[in-house]
Amino acid sequence: MAKALSTFVCQSCGGTSSKWSGRCDACGAWNTIIVEPAAAPISGAKGGRLTAGSPTRLVGLKGETATPPRIVTGISELDRVAGGGFVPGSGVLIGGDPGIGKSTLLLQALAELARAGRRVVYVSGEEAVAQVRLRAERLGLADTGVLLATETNVSDIIATLNEGGPPAVAVIDSIQTLWAPAIEAAPGTVSQLKAGAEALIRFAKQKGTAVLLVGHVTKEGQIAGPRVIEHMVDTVLYFEGDRGHQYRILRAVKNRFGPTDEIGVFEMSDGGLAEVANPSRLFMGQGEAPAPGTAVFAGIEGTRPLLIEVQALVSPSPLGTPRRTAVGWDSNRLAMILAVLEARGGIAIGANDVFLNVAGGLRVKEPAADLAVAAALLSSLTGTVIPAGTVIFGEIALSGAIRPVGQTEARLKEAQKLGLKEAVIAAAADPPASRGLRVKSLETIMDLVAWTVAQDKGLRRIA
Ligand code: TYD
Ligand code: MG
Repeated sequence: MAKALSTFVCQSCGGTSSKWSGRCDACGAWNTIIVEPAAAPISGAKGGRLTAGSPTRLVGLKGETATPPRIVTGISELDRVAGGGFVPGSGVLIGGDPGIGKSTLLLQALAELARAGRRVVYVSGEEAVAQVRLRAERLGLADTGVLLATETNVSDIIATLNEGGPPAVAVIDSIQTLWAPAIEAAPGTVSQLKAGAEALIRFAKQKGTAVLLVGHVTKEGQIAGPRVIEHMVDTVLYFEGDRGHQYRILRAVKNRFGPTDEIGVFEMSDGGLAEVANPSRLFMGQGEAPAPGTAVFAGIEGTRPLLIEVQALVSPSPLGTPRRTAVGWDSNRLAMILAVLEARGGIAIGANDVFLNVAGGLRVKEPAADLAVAAALLSSLTGTVIPAGTVIFGEIALSGAIRPVGQTEARLKEAQKLGLKEAVIAAAADPPASRGLRVKSLETIMDLVAWTVAQDKGLRRIA
Protein backbone atom coordinates (compact mmCIF):
# COMPACT_ATOMS: atom_id res chain seq x y z
CA MET A 1 0.00 0.00 0.00
CA ALA A 2 1.40 3.36 -1.01
CA LYS A 3 1.84 5.66 1.95
CA ALA A 4 0.91 9.32 1.70
CA LEU A 5 4.10 11.30 2.06
CA SER A 6 2.43 14.61 2.65
CA THR A 7 -0.84 16.02 3.85
CA PHE A 8 -2.55 19.32 3.31
CA VAL A 9 -2.90 21.23 6.55
CA CYS A 10 -4.92 24.35 7.23
CA GLN A 11 -2.62 26.87 8.91
CA SER A 12 -5.54 28.45 10.66
CA CYS A 13 -7.31 25.54 12.35
CA GLY A 14 -4.96 22.62 11.81
CA GLY A 15 -7.53 20.62 9.84
CA THR A 16 -6.07 18.13 7.36
CA SER A 17 -7.22 16.98 3.97
CA SER A 18 -5.87 14.72 1.27
CA LYS A 19 -5.90 17.35 -1.46
CA TRP A 20 -5.31 21.03 -1.78
CA SER A 21 -8.20 23.44 -1.94
CA GLY A 22 -8.54 27.19 -1.76
CA ARG A 23 -10.85 27.08 1.22
CA CYS A 24 -10.52 24.96 4.34
CA ASP A 25 -13.54 22.67 4.76
CA ALA A 26 -13.13 22.62 8.51
CA CYS A 27 -12.97 26.32 9.37
CA GLY A 28 -13.87 28.05 6.13
CA ALA A 29 -10.67 30.14 5.98
CA TRP A 30 -9.31 30.99 2.54
CA ASN A 31 -5.78 30.40 1.28
CA THR A 32 -4.64 28.79 4.48
CA ILE A 33 -3.91 25.28 3.23
CA ILE A 34 -0.34 24.30 2.60
CA VAL A 35 1.31 20.99 2.04
CA GLU A 36 3.24 19.54 4.95
CA PRO A 37 5.11 16.26 5.26
CA ALA A 38 2.92 13.59 6.81
CA ALA A 39 3.37 13.09 10.54
CA ALA A 40 5.59 10.21 11.55
CA PRO A 41 3.58 7.06 12.26
CA ILE A 42 2.97 6.21 15.92
CA SER A 43 5.99 4.37 17.19
CA GLY A 44 5.16 0.73 17.47
CA ALA A 45 2.72 0.83 14.58
CA LYS A 46 3.73 -1.49 11.78
CA GLY A 47 1.97 -1.52 8.47
CA GLY A 48 -1.02 0.18 10.04
CA ARG A 49 -1.35 -2.41 12.84
CA LEU A 50 -0.35 -1.70 16.40
CA THR A 51 2.09 -4.00 18.13
CA ALA A 52 1.31 -5.31 21.59
CA GLY A 53 1.73 -2.67 24.29
CA SER A 54 2.53 -2.97 27.95
CA PRO A 55 -0.16 -2.19 30.54
CA THR A 56 -0.18 1.01 32.56
CA ARG A 57 -0.97 0.97 36.25
CA LEU A 58 -4.61 1.70 37.05
CA VAL A 59 -5.29 3.74 40.16
CA GLY A 60 -8.33 4.93 42.10
CA LEU A 61 -9.63 8.47 42.14
CA LYS A 62 -8.82 8.88 45.80
CA GLY A 63 -5.22 9.08 46.73
CA GLU A 64 -2.31 11.18 47.82
CA THR A 65 -1.66 14.05 45.49
CA ALA A 66 0.41 16.82 46.88
CA THR A 67 -0.64 20.06 45.23
CA PRO A 68 2.47 22.18 44.96
CA PRO A 69 1.98 25.81 45.84
CA ARG A 70 1.29 28.14 42.97
CA ILE A 71 3.97 30.31 41.51
CA VAL A 72 2.87 33.80 42.40
CA THR A 73 4.49 36.58 40.41
CA GLY A 74 3.31 39.41 42.63
CA ILE A 75 1.76 41.14 39.61
CA SER A 76 -1.69 40.64 41.03
CA GLU A 77 -3.62 41.33 37.83
CA LEU A 78 -1.64 38.53 36.15
CA ASP A 79 -1.86 36.15 39.09
CA ARG A 80 -5.61 36.56 39.38
CA VAL A 81 -6.22 35.85 35.70
CA ALA A 82 -4.03 32.75 35.95
CA GLY A 83 -6.26 31.56 38.78
CA GLY A 84 -4.05 32.59 41.69
CA GLY A 85 -0.60 32.24 40.17
CA PHE A 86 0.86 29.72 37.75
CA VAL A 87 0.65 26.01 38.48
CA PRO A 88 3.99 24.17 38.47
CA GLY A 89 4.15 21.74 35.58
CA SER A 90 1.47 23.48 33.56
CA GLY A 91 1.52 24.73 30.01
CA VAL A 92 0.19 28.22 29.46
CA LEU A 93 -0.42 29.88 26.12
CA ILE A 94 -0.38 33.66 26.00
CA GLY A 95 -1.79 34.88 22.72
CA GLY A 96 -2.19 38.33 21.31
CA ASP A 97 -1.53 40.64 18.41
CA PRO A 98 2.09 41.45 17.69
CA GLY A 99 3.21 44.54 19.60
CA ILE A 100 0.48 44.35 22.21
CA GLY A 101 2.97 43.83 25.05
CA LYS A 102 3.29 40.08 25.60
CA SER A 103 7.08 40.10 25.81
CA THR A 104 7.03 43.11 28.09
CA LEU A 105 4.51 41.60 30.49
CA LEU A 106 6.31 38.26 30.69
CA LEU A 107 9.70 39.84 31.17
CA GLN A 108 8.25 41.88 34.02
CA ALA A 109 6.66 38.77 35.53
CA LEU A 110 9.93 36.82 35.31
CA ALA A 111 11.83 39.69 36.87
CA GLU A 112 9.46 39.68 39.85
CA LEU A 113 9.97 35.93 40.26
CA ALA A 114 13.74 36.26 39.95
CA ARG A 115 13.68 38.95 42.63
CA ALA A 116 11.87 36.47 44.85
CA GLY A 117 14.75 34.06 44.34
CA ARG A 118 13.22 31.75 41.72
CA ARG A 119 15.13 30.31 38.83
CA VAL A 120 13.45 31.66 35.71
CA VAL A 121 14.44 31.47 32.06
CA TYR A 122 13.39 33.65 29.16
CA VAL A 123 13.96 32.07 25.76
CA SER A 124 13.61 34.49 22.90
CA GLY A 125 13.42 33.32 19.33
CA GLU A 126 12.46 36.71 18.03
CA GLU A 127 14.84 39.16 19.56
CA ALA A 128 18.59 39.15 19.99
CA VAL A 129 20.14 39.15 23.46
CA ALA A 130 21.06 42.81 23.02
CA GLN A 131 17.45 43.73 22.26
CA VAL A 132 16.06 41.93 25.29
CA ARG A 133 18.78 43.42 27.47
CA LEU A 134 17.96 46.87 26.18
CA ARG A 135 14.34 46.41 27.07
CA ALA A 136 15.23 45.06 30.51
CA GLU A 137 17.50 48.05 31.03
CA ARG A 138 14.75 50.45 30.06
CA LEU A 139 12.32 48.73 32.41
CA GLY A 140 14.86 48.76 35.24
CA LEU A 141 14.92 44.96 35.39
CA ALA A 142 18.45 44.33 34.18
CA ASP A 143 19.83 43.18 37.53
CA THR A 144 17.01 40.87 38.58
CA GLY A 145 18.68 37.58 37.72
CA VAL A 146 16.43 36.48 34.86
CA LEU A 147 18.34 33.98 32.72
CA LEU A 148 18.22 34.70 29.04
CA ALA A 149 18.72 32.57 25.93
CA THR A 150 18.10 33.14 22.26
CA GLU A 151 17.26 29.85 20.66
CA THR A 152 14.66 28.43 18.31
CA ASN A 153 15.63 24.76 18.16
CA VAL A 154 13.24 22.90 20.48
CA SER A 155 15.68 20.15 21.43
CA ASP A 156 18.33 22.73 22.29
CA ILE A 157 15.80 24.74 24.30
CA ILE A 158 14.87 21.68 26.35
CA ALA A 159 18.51 20.75 26.87
CA THR A 160 19.19 24.30 28.00
CA LEU A 161 16.28 24.28 30.42
CA ASN A 162 17.48 20.98 31.90
CA GLU A 163 20.92 22.31 32.56
CA GLY A 164 21.42 23.57 36.10
CA GLY A 165 18.05 22.26 37.25
CA PRO A 166 14.68 22.92 35.65
CA PRO A 167 13.48 26.49 36.20
CA ALA A 168 10.30 27.37 38.08
CA VAL A 169 9.05 29.26 35.06
CA ALA A 170 10.25 29.30 31.47
CA VAL A 171 8.94 31.70 28.85
CA ILE A 172 9.18 30.68 25.20
CA ASP A 173 8.81 33.76 23.01
CA SER A 174 7.37 32.80 20.61
CA ILE A 175 6.03 29.41 19.50
CA GLN A 176 5.95 30.68 15.91
CA THR A 177 9.74 30.70 15.88
CA LEU A 178 10.11 27.18 17.29
CA TRP A 179 11.79 24.69 15.09
CA ALA A 180 12.24 20.94 15.46
CA PRO A 181 14.86 19.63 13.02
CA ALA A 182 13.20 16.21 12.89
CA ILE A 183 10.19 17.76 11.22
CA GLU A 184 10.59 18.82 7.64
CA ALA A 185 8.03 21.62 7.58
CA ALA A 186 9.08 25.25 7.86
CA PRO A 187 9.00 27.08 11.24
CA GLY A 188 5.59 28.55 11.94
CA THR A 189 3.68 25.74 10.23
CA VAL A 190 1.17 23.70 12.14
CA SER A 191 3.38 20.60 12.31
CA GLN A 192 6.27 22.60 13.74
CA LEU A 193 4.04 24.42 16.20
CA LYS A 194 2.46 21.21 17.39
CA ALA A 195 5.73 19.34 17.72
CA GLY A 196 7.41 22.22 19.55
CA ALA A 197 4.53 22.83 21.91
CA GLU A 198 4.13 19.10 22.58
CA ALA A 199 7.79 18.68 23.51
CA LEU A 200 7.76 21.72 25.78
CA ILE A 201 4.52 20.71 27.49
CA ARG A 202 5.94 17.23 28.06
CA PHE A 203 8.98 18.86 29.61
CA ALA A 204 6.70 20.96 31.83
CA LYS A 205 4.81 17.90 33.10
CA GLN A 206 7.98 15.92 33.74
CA LYS A 207 10.02 18.61 35.43
CA GLY A 208 7.38 20.71 37.13
CA THR A 209 8.34 23.87 35.28
CA ALA A 210 5.51 26.21 34.37
CA VAL A 211 6.06 26.76 30.66
CA LEU A 212 4.59 29.96 29.24
CA LEU A 213 4.29 29.91 25.47
CA VAL A 214 3.84 33.16 23.62
CA GLY A 215 1.80 33.01 20.43
CA HIS A 216 1.11 35.71 17.90
CA VAL A 217 -2.33 35.87 16.44
CA THR A 218 -2.65 37.09 12.91
CA LYS A 219 -5.95 38.23 11.51
CA GLU A 220 -5.31 36.80 8.07
CA GLY A 221 -4.51 33.36 9.46
CA GLN A 222 -1.53 33.14 7.10
CA ILE A 223 0.91 32.23 9.82
CA ALA A 224 -0.38 29.40 11.93
CA GLY A 225 -2.40 30.85 14.75
CA PRO A 226 -1.87 29.41 18.20
CA ARG A 227 -5.42 28.06 18.10
CA VAL A 228 -4.19 24.65 17.11
CA ILE A 229 -2.32 24.30 20.36
CA GLU A 230 -5.05 25.76 22.57
CA HIS A 231 -6.28 22.27 23.40
CA MET A 232 -2.76 21.09 24.25
CA VAL A 233 -2.16 23.57 27.05
CA ASP A 234 -3.79 23.86 30.47
CA THR A 235 -4.41 27.58 30.36
CA VAL A 236 -4.98 30.02 27.54
CA LEU A 237 -4.66 33.72 28.20
CA TYR A 238 -5.28 36.40 25.63
CA PHE A 239 -3.68 39.78 25.83
CA GLU A 240 -5.82 42.30 24.04
CA GLY A 241 -6.13 45.97 23.62
CA ASP A 242 -6.41 48.68 21.14
CA ARG A 243 -3.14 50.09 19.86
CA GLY A 244 -4.75 53.52 20.08
CA HIS A 245 -5.38 53.08 23.79
CA GLN A 246 -2.84 52.53 26.49
CA TYR A 247 -5.00 49.91 28.23
CA ARG A 248 -4.31 46.24 27.85
CA ILE A 249 -6.61 43.51 29.00
CA LEU A 250 -5.44 40.03 29.90
CA ARG A 251 -8.25 37.55 29.61
CA ALA A 252 -8.41 33.88 30.58
CA VAL A 253 -10.26 31.96 27.88
CA LYS A 254 -9.40 28.49 29.13
CA ASN A 255 -8.11 27.47 32.51
CA ARG A 256 -7.89 23.98 33.95
CA PHE A 257 -6.81 25.51 37.25
CA GLY A 258 -9.08 28.48 37.70
CA PRO A 259 -12.02 30.50 36.47
CA THR A 260 -12.26 31.81 32.94
CA ASP A 261 -13.64 35.19 31.94
CA GLU A 262 -11.42 36.77 34.54
CA ILE A 263 -9.68 39.88 33.29
CA GLY A 264 -6.59 41.76 34.35
CA VAL A 265 -6.17 45.38 33.34
CA PHE A 266 -2.82 46.99 32.56
CA GLU A 267 -1.68 50.30 31.28
CA MET A 268 1.24 50.56 28.84
CA SER A 269 3.61 53.32 29.83
CA ASP A 270 7.23 54.27 29.29
CA GLY A 271 8.12 52.08 32.23
CA GLY A 272 6.38 49.02 30.83
CA LEU A 273 3.03 47.63 31.87
CA ALA A 274 1.54 48.99 35.06
CA GLU A 275 -1.31 47.27 36.86
CA VAL A 276 -4.55 49.16 36.96
CA ALA A 277 -5.97 48.42 40.36
CA ASN A 278 -9.13 50.43 39.83
CA PRO A 279 -10.15 49.86 36.22
CA SER A 280 -13.58 51.42 36.67
CA ARG A 281 -11.97 54.85 36.61
CA LEU A 282 -10.33 53.97 33.33
CA PHE A 283 -13.48 52.95 31.50
CA MET A 284 -15.70 55.65 32.89
CA GLY A 285 -14.55 58.69 30.97
CA GLN A 286 -12.17 61.24 32.35
CA GLY A 287 -14.52 63.52 34.20
CA GLU A 288 -15.48 65.73 31.27
CA ALA A 289 -18.87 67.43 31.41
CA PRO A 290 -21.62 64.90 30.70
CA ALA A 291 -22.90 65.00 27.14
CA PRO A 292 -26.02 63.51 25.59
CA GLY A 293 -25.50 59.90 24.56
CA THR A 294 -23.37 58.67 27.43
CA ALA A 295 -24.50 56.28 30.11
CA VAL A 296 -22.51 54.41 32.74
CA PHE A 297 -23.02 50.68 33.00
CA ALA A 298 -21.97 48.46 35.90
CA GLY A 299 -20.72 45.23 34.41
CA ILE A 300 -19.17 42.10 35.85
CA GLU A 301 -15.92 40.96 34.29
CA GLY A 302 -14.96 37.62 35.75
CA THR A 303 -15.28 38.05 39.47
CA ARG A 304 -15.00 41.77 39.40
CA PRO A 305 -17.54 44.56 38.95
CA LEU A 306 -16.48 47.23 36.50
CA LEU A 307 -18.06 50.55 35.62
CA ILE A 308 -17.99 51.20 31.90
CA GLU A 309 -19.12 54.16 29.86
CA VAL A 310 -21.42 53.43 26.93
CA GLN A 311 -21.51 56.09 24.22
CA ALA A 312 -24.17 56.45 21.54
CA LEU A 313 -24.59 58.82 18.67
CA VAL A 314 -27.93 58.93 16.92
CA SER A 315 -28.22 61.31 14.00
CA PRO A 316 -30.52 61.66 10.99
CA SER A 317 -29.22 59.52 8.17
CA PRO A 318 -28.71 60.71 4.63
CA LEU A 319 -28.76 57.10 3.50
CA GLY A 320 -31.66 54.93 2.45
CA THR A 321 -30.36 52.21 4.73
CA PRO A 322 -29.13 53.97 7.86
CA ARG A 323 -25.84 52.90 9.33
CA ARG A 324 -25.63 50.77 12.46
CA THR A 325 -22.20 50.51 13.98
CA ALA A 326 -21.33 48.94 17.31
CA VAL A 327 -17.82 48.86 18.74
CA GLY A 328 -17.35 46.73 21.84
CA TRP A 329 -20.91 45.44 21.80
CA ASP A 330 -22.83 42.89 19.73
CA SER A 331 -24.46 44.51 16.72
CA ASN A 332 -27.35 42.03 16.72
CA ARG A 333 -28.09 43.01 20.27
CA LEU A 334 -28.00 46.67 19.22
CA ALA A 335 -30.52 45.96 16.45
CA MET A 336 -32.74 44.24 18.98
CA ILE A 337 -32.68 47.15 21.38
CA LEU A 338 -33.44 49.60 18.58
CA ALA A 339 -36.40 47.44 17.58
CA VAL A 340 -37.68 47.27 21.15
CA LEU A 341 -37.35 51.05 21.52
CA GLU A 342 -39.29 51.48 18.32
CA ALA A 343 -41.98 48.83 18.81
CA ARG A 344 -42.47 48.92 22.58
CA GLY A 345 -41.26 52.38 23.48
CA GLY A 346 -42.89 54.25 20.61
CA ILE A 347 -39.61 55.94 19.71
CA ALA A 348 -39.05 56.64 16.02
CA ILE A 349 -35.35 55.90 15.69
CA GLY A 350 -35.28 53.87 12.47
CA ALA A 351 -34.31 56.64 10.04
CA ASN A 352 -31.20 57.57 12.00
CA ASP A 353 -27.60 56.48 11.76
CA VAL A 354 -26.70 54.80 15.04
CA PHE A 355 -23.19 54.48 16.41
CA LEU A 356 -22.47 52.75 19.67
CA ASN A 357 -19.13 52.61 21.40
CA VAL A 358 -17.90 51.08 24.63
CA ALA A 359 -15.25 53.34 26.16
CA GLY A 360 -11.65 52.25 26.54
CA GLY A 361 -11.69 49.57 23.85
CA LEU A 362 -13.46 47.14 26.15
CA ARG A 363 -15.80 44.44 24.82
CA VAL A 364 -19.03 43.99 26.72
CA LYS A 365 -20.95 40.76 26.29
CA GLU A 366 -23.46 40.89 29.10
CA PRO A 367 -27.15 41.46 28.29
CA ALA A 368 -27.11 43.42 31.56
CA ALA A 369 -25.82 46.32 29.48
CA ASP A 370 -29.09 46.49 27.51
CA LEU A 371 -30.61 49.16 29.71
CA ALA A 372 -27.54 51.40 29.61
CA VAL A 373 -27.36 51.01 25.83
CA ALA A 374 -31.03 51.94 25.50
CA ALA A 375 -30.54 54.92 27.82
CA ALA A 376 -27.52 56.14 25.84
CA LEU A 377 -29.48 55.83 22.59
CA LEU A 378 -32.48 57.69 24.00
CA SER A 379 -30.21 60.32 25.50
CA SER A 380 -28.51 60.97 22.18
CA LEU A 381 -31.74 60.94 20.21
CA THR A 382 -33.46 63.41 22.50
CA GLY A 383 -30.41 65.48 23.40
CA THR A 384 -31.08 64.82 27.07
CA VAL A 385 -28.10 64.52 29.35
CA ILE A 386 -28.09 61.62 31.77
CA PRO A 387 -26.86 63.17 35.01
CA ALA A 388 -23.30 62.39 36.04
CA GLY A 389 -23.26 59.94 38.92
CA THR A 390 -25.92 57.67 37.48
CA VAL A 391 -25.31 53.97 36.95
CA ILE A 392 -27.67 51.96 34.75
CA PHE A 393 -28.03 48.22 34.27
CA GLY A 394 -30.71 45.65 33.41
CA GLU A 395 -31.68 43.27 30.66
CA ILE A 396 -34.36 44.22 28.14
CA ALA A 397 -36.75 41.54 26.91
CA LEU A 398 -38.36 41.60 23.47
CA SER A 399 -41.64 42.42 25.19
CA GLY A 400 -40.07 45.64 26.45
CA ALA A 401 -39.93 44.34 30.02
CA ILE A 402 -36.82 45.21 32.01
CA ARG A 403 -35.40 42.25 33.86
CA PRO A 404 -33.14 42.19 36.88
CA VAL A 405 -29.65 40.79 36.40
CA GLY A 406 -27.28 38.76 38.55
CA GLN A 407 -24.88 40.24 41.09
CA THR A 408 -26.90 43.43 41.50
CA GLU A 409 -25.40 44.03 44.93
CA ALA A 410 -21.83 43.84 43.66
CA ARG A 411 -22.62 46.24 40.84
CA LEU A 412 -24.26 48.73 43.19
CA LYS A 413 -21.38 48.46 45.62
CA GLU A 414 -18.85 49.30 42.90
CA ALA A 415 -20.94 52.32 41.87
CA GLN A 416 -21.13 53.49 45.44
CA LYS A 417 -17.40 52.98 45.90
CA LEU A 418 -16.73 55.29 42.96
CA GLY A 419 -18.98 57.99 44.32
CA LEU A 420 -22.00 57.54 42.08
CA LYS A 421 -25.30 58.72 43.48
CA GLU A 422 -28.15 57.10 41.61
CA ALA A 423 -28.86 53.66 40.16
CA VAL A 424 -31.40 52.99 37.43
CA ILE A 425 -32.21 49.29 37.54
CA ALA A 426 -34.96 46.75 36.98
CA ALA A 427 -37.80 46.59 39.45
CA ALA A 428 -37.31 43.30 41.25
CA ALA A 429 -39.49 41.24 43.56
CA ASP A 430 -36.94 41.62 46.33
CA PRO A 431 -35.18 44.97 45.98
CA PRO A 432 -31.47 44.80 46.76
CA ALA A 433 -29.87 46.79 49.54
CA SER A 434 -29.43 50.19 47.95
CA ARG A 435 -25.84 50.62 49.16
CA GLY A 436 -26.42 54.29 49.82
CA LEU A 437 -27.54 55.02 46.27
CA ARG A 438 -30.86 56.48 45.21
CA VAL A 439 -32.50 53.64 43.34
CA LYS A 440 -34.89 54.20 40.47
CA SER A 441 -36.60 50.96 39.48
CA LEU A 442 -38.08 50.50 36.04
CA GLU A 443 -40.52 47.87 34.84
CA THR A 444 -40.70 48.46 31.11
CA ILE A 445 -38.96 50.34 28.35
CA MET A 446 -41.74 52.96 28.62
CA ASP A 447 -40.50 53.73 32.14
CA LEU A 448 -37.00 54.26 30.75
CA VAL A 449 -38.33 56.67 28.12
CA ALA A 450 -40.22 58.59 30.79
CA TRP A 451 -37.18 58.65 33.07
CA THR A 452 -34.85 59.86 30.32
CA VAL A 453 -37.22 62.63 29.26
CA ALA A 454 -37.57 63.69 32.90
CA GLN A 455 -33.80 64.34 32.98
CA ASP A 456 -34.27 67.09 30.42
CA LYS A 457 -32.71 70.33 31.54
CA GLY A 458 -33.89 72.37 28.57
CA LEU A 459 -31.36 70.93 26.16
CA ARG A 460 -33.68 68.66 24.27
CA ARG A 461 -33.49 68.67 20.55
CA ILE A 462 -36.49 66.56 19.62
CA ALA A 463 -39.88 67.02 21.22
P1 TYD B 1 6.11 43.89 23.15
O1 TYD B 1 6.14 43.41 24.56
O2 TYD B 1 7.37 43.76 22.39
O3 TYD B 1 4.92 43.23 22.36
P2 TYD B 1 4.71 41.73 21.86
O4 TYD B 1 5.71 40.88 22.54
O5 TYD B 1 3.28 41.41 22.23
O6 TYD B 1 4.90 41.73 20.37
O7 TYD B 1 5.65 45.41 23.23
C1 TYD B 1 5.83 46.19 22.15
C2 TYD B 1 5.20 47.54 22.28
O8 TYD B 1 5.13 48.04 23.59
C3 TYD B 1 6.01 48.49 21.48
O9 TYD B 1 5.16 49.08 20.51
C4 TYD B 1 6.53 49.49 22.44
C5 TYD B 1 5.65 49.36 23.62
N1 TYD B 1 6.35 49.58 24.90
C6 TYD B 1 6.07 50.69 25.66
O10 TYD B 1 5.24 51.52 25.29
N2 TYD B 1 6.73 50.87 26.84
C7 TYD B 1 7.66 50.00 27.28
O11 TYD B 1 8.22 50.20 28.38
C8 TYD B 1 7.95 48.85 26.49
C9 TYD B 1 8.97 47.86 26.91
C10 TYD B 1 7.27 48.67 25.30
MG1 MG C 1 7.37 40.02 21.63
